Amino acid sequence: MIDELEALRAEALEAVSGAPAQAELRDLEVKYLGKKGALTAILKGMGKLSAEERPTVGALANQVREALKGAIEGRRADLEAAAIEALCADPHFDASLPGPSPSAGSLHPVTTITEHIEDVFRAMGFYLLDYPEVEDDAHNFEGLNIPADHPARDMQDTFWLQDGHLLRTHTSPGQIRAMAEFAPPFRAIFPGRVFRYERLDASHEHTFHQVEGIMIDRDISVANLIHSMKTLLGAIFEREVTIRLRPGFFPFVEPGFELDIQCQVCAGEGCSVCKGSGWVELLPCGLIHPNVLRYGGLDPEEWSGWAFGLGLSRLVMMKYQIEDIRHLMGGDLRFNAQFRAG
Ligand code: PHE
Repeated sequence: MIDELEALRAEALEAVSGAPAQAELRDLEVKYLGKKGALTAILKGMGKLSAEERPTVGALANQVREALKGAIEGRRADLEAAAIEALCADPHFDASLPGPSPSAGSLHPVTTITEHIEDVFRAMGFYLLDYPEVEDDAHNFEGLNIPADHPARDMQDTFWLQDGHLLRTHTSPGQIRAMAEFAPPFRAIFPGRVFRYERLDASHEHTFHQVEGIMIDRDISVANLIHSMKTLLGAIFEREVTIRLRPGFFPFVEPGFELDIQCQVCAGEGCSVCKGSGWVELLPCGLIHPNVLRYGGLDPEEWSGWAFGLGLSRLVMMKYQIEDIRHLMGGDLRFNAQFRAG
């Protein structure tokens, strides 16, 4: 066996030193040192040796293994160095060129616009609040003056959970939560995801984003509401915007309005974005209904307030002229990458 091992060492060392490339070197490693390799094959005969012979042969086998490993490592390093040298000698290879830069992520446009709106409102003294996406009937409907048999429930098709909870269909449940949480007067916004059981098309998505805002104080009037909305929209669009109010029905506000802004694309002339009308419907709002104030624990004789619910998804679509809402949550990185800063 000693002869066999010596012969293996001589043969293997010669083969390794002559290995022309990494692939051949790997093959040799397997051939000599692998589980089914030559060394293992010889060692299988160890059992037949006498107790005196065994330690000598074992020690030699280890030496051979170490020698082979060392030779393979050495040859591998030489081959690598040679490969780099060859690359550098290639006149087409320029080692001073910068490598490909890793691709950077970016903020989603809805995030960017939400953060902008948060900044605007924080500067005006609003709290920034976060409320649950899983709600109960009381906060999403009942407390907002939408009882079980009210037709307004049909305006917002709902994802119901098996335990009777639901995915909030709007950010308005936060109105009641905020009233219960803070002593008036106060003002707050709460942006977030909302969910509706919709048939999906270019302007309907099951998940979209709103930001709700409320102001609670004594003697809040429609004039306060209009002033606040104009300030808000001016800050969002970074210019003065022309608005108009139309009556709008929402059970939790009275009076309720649909606020339109003059189309930012055509300045009211009429274009495809505003479908020729010169106006774009943007933000439902109104004075908080006395029943809602009462449900939030406030006395409507003493306190009053306004509320608005701004569709962030729609705002993003208008700002970037995105024609299909499904792009927003579609997760296609080619879409997202268009909003990469810089
Ligand atoms: N919650 C309403 C909706 O999503 C919008 C709204 C909010 C209307 C606040 C009036 C006041 O349709």
